[in-house]
Amino acid sequence: MTQSVFRVFTLAALLLVPAAQAVTVIPKTAFNSVADFEKYFDYLYPWGSDHNGSGRMVKGNVNVASGTLSLVATPTSNPVPPTSAANPHPAIHYASGAVHAKDHITVTAGNSYSIYGEFSALTPKGTWPAFWLTAVNGWPPEVDIGEWKGTANNWYNTFNTSSQVKSDLVAWPTDLSFHSLRADLTAQGSSVKIDFFMDNQLKATQYGANFAGAPMWLIINLQMEGSSGSPGPTGTTTYKIRNVQVTRTGS
Ligand SMILES: *[C@@H]1O[C@H](CO)[C@@H](O)[C@H](O)[C@H]1NC(C)=O
Ligand SMILES: *[C@@H]1O[C@H](CO)[C@@H](O)[C@H](O)[C@H]1NC(C)=O
Repeated sequence: MTQSVFRVFTLAALLLVPAAQAVTVIPKTAFNSVADFEKYFDYLYPWGSDHNGSGRMVKGNVNVASGTLSLVATPTSNPVPPTSAANPHPAIHYASGAVHAKDHITVTAGNSYSIYGEFSALTPKGTWPAFWLTAVNGWPPEVDIGEWKGTANNWYNTFNTSSQVKSDLVAWPTDLSFHSLRADLTAQGSSVKIDFFMDNQLKATQYGANFAGAPMWLIINLQMEGSSGSPGPTGTTTYKIRNVQVTRTGS
């Protein structure tokens, strides 16, 4: 065959090489309806209703409609039992909302993940919304993509151990407008490299030791008081989330 025909064939062959295909693990439409939501998410934390603040999660404080997930915290009195089942067993002062993705996120040498969402997050004292990854087995890994602790900052955190944590704070507007957060995770040997973005600008890079191959939960919750200070709000507070998308390249 002539050289030009050969070139055409070579080009065609190159175009047919299967590029690493991105798989949509959670689509942006997951909050369009309760039925869509329940395909990809379960209610509460993976371990139940209680964690490290004064909010007790209940299904009734999770609302899904028109592409937006709303987690609502309402003051509660005489909760039973009165304290959290989880360490450090804080007193319960609120009913609130938490959800977690059904699929685990496991970063390996053969894949990479991109985790995205848009957030109208509260920053008053006593409000502790989060969008985070935590270990399925033991702890860590933990990666906090969104964590607001009662001040006008988002905290990006990666925990190697309970005492070895890297935190990068980025200023967060307090007007409840939506801003996007994204974390891109890739393995580097036994570690995982995490690039954190806000409104599509790279803000921080952190590394998690021994995170490769460790399955993680993706959790969205409105916890209250605890690390965000107390007392928290006396009225109803709402944390809104939209366009959450998880994609995986590779297997
Ligand atoms: C408490 O939960 C938040 C997520 O809401 C997490 O980022 C943090 O590491 C937890 N703190 C402790 C001490 O368990
Ligand atoms: C956690 O471990 C990684 C290595 O995987 C290292 O690069 C990083 O600096 C460690 N983080 C802290 C806070 O020591």
